[in-house]
Amino acid sequence: MKSLLLPPHPKERRIVFKNAWTQGYTPDIDCYVKNGGYEELKKALGMKPEEIIDEVKKANLRGRGGAGFPCGVKWGFIKRDDGKPHYITCNADESEPGTFKDRYILHNDPHQLIEGMAIAAFALNVNLAYIYIRCEFPKAAGIVTKAIEEARAKGFLGKNIMGSGFDIDMYVHQGAGAYICGEETSLIESLEGKRPYPRIKPPYFPAVLGLYMSPTIVNNVETFCHVKQIFKIGSGEYAKMGTAGDGGTRVMCVSGDVMRPGPYEIPAGGVTLGELINDVCGGMKPGRKLKAIIPGGSSSKILRAGETFKMKEKGPDGEMIEKEVPLLDLVMDAASLAAAGTMIGSGGVIVMDDSRNMLWALNNLNTFYAHESCGQCTPCREGVLWIDKMTTRMVNGEGISQDPATLKNVADNIAGRTVCAFGEAASWPVQSFLQKFPEEFEIAAK
Ligand SMILES: Cc1cc2nc3c(=O)[nH]c(=O)nc-3n(C[C@H](O)[C@H](O)[C@H](O)COP(=O)(O)O)c2cc1C
Ligand code: SF4
Repeated sequence: MKSLLLPPHPKERRIVFKNAWTQGYTPDIDCYVKNGGYEELKKALGMKPEEIIDEVKKANLRGRGGAGFPCGVKWGFIKRDDGKPHYITCNADESEPGTFKDRYILHNDPHQLIEGMAIAAFALNVNLAYIYIRCEFPKAAGIVTKAIEEARAKGFLGKNIMGSGFDIDMYVHQGAGAYICGEETSLIESLEGKRPYPRIKPPYFPAVLGLYMSPTIVNNVETFCHVKQIFKIGSGEYAKMGTAGDGGTRVMCVSGDVMRPGPYEIPAGGVTLGELINDVCGGMKPGRKLKAIIPGGSSSKILRAGETFKMKEKGPDGEMIEKEVPLLDLVMDAASLAAAGTMIGSGGVIVMDDSRNMLWALNNLNTFYAHESCGQCTPCREGVLWIDKMTTRMVNGEGISQDPATLKNVADNIAGRTVCAFGEAASWPVQSFLQKFPEEFEIAAK
């Protein structure tokens, strides 16, 4: 059978995806160890925990789950010696529409994740870790469970790992398969066996009051894998691959109207949006033109072809100057996309060509969010359903002139008024689609 695996594009730099994307690589422990696996855990066990956290800080690793919080800073919130039990939890819920990177790691390179988590556990004084996998990934749950058993049998997990005196065990927990279970506090509620209602922050920041009300670190699958790679490459080299505030590489999963959709690992800030679409992904479908891009998973704000953005950069004599940057010249890193009014989020780039109807596309997202709201808070429970009803009516040719204004008003009254960031995730597409493509909504509102 012809392999679907492509060799890396010259603009890619595969680190966390290196093994998962290599022909002949298998997820079993012998293959992992043969390729240098668990060497970084050995290295970390010989270091002081605070040195480990410092390395992760110096690497400028940002979380890859969506919010992009600096990983080392988050780890720094845990007080190692406070006498409380600590936990780490891997967020393998992978629910954001447009995001499909973590499952490749779970299926093909589970030991990389286990090793990254074991390093984190040692640094944070954690003896028990969970990998929370959505139930729609039964194959992944089986592979990771087997990998944990293999690691335990070889002494990389369990009591006194590698003779270090440190104990760490790990378990897979299969979630119910709801988008809200990916939100870190509802994931914790779900792990505790309860209905996954997100907790109010503050006071329930997981690093303070997490699993069983104990300090807990929740990180994404890809984030933990980068931890392992930081110890392989060294924090300095790792940081240099990216930009000042966004170190290393990022897996960008590109879907939509490009010739070669798929997950690609690029140096953070090393590729522009245009290079990603036109070089790495082989360009738009024949005869089609770019219309819009959602750059970081469905909740990130949409960008319109032809837009330009005002960016600040250092001039020749060191002072900051303003520059007009076209959409396709936007650099793919956290700061540049934030400056363009959107976010790199979970790395899910959705590319839409000129055959796409923006009202239809927004309605598709609204239906998803309306289905997935957990219903705990009124603005989200009622508002997201209302938005969905409106765009569904508009798609069916029954729009009325007030619809665009009402849509905006409802979205504005959800964002910032809810228990969790789902409110923003559902509102931002509505606000940005209306702002960027007003004409398509006006036509449907006649
Ligand atoms: C509605 C919602 C869904 C989320 N889904 C996921 C998810 O599937 N996977 C994930 O890693 N993070 C998800 N997040 C972000 C997590 O709450 C959390 O920020 C992340 O797991 C932290 O890991 P990181 O620091 O490594 O990015 C979601 C957030 C929200 C608000
Ligand atoms: S914002 Fe929505 S998903 Fe989040 S807690 Fe409120 S109702 Fe639930």
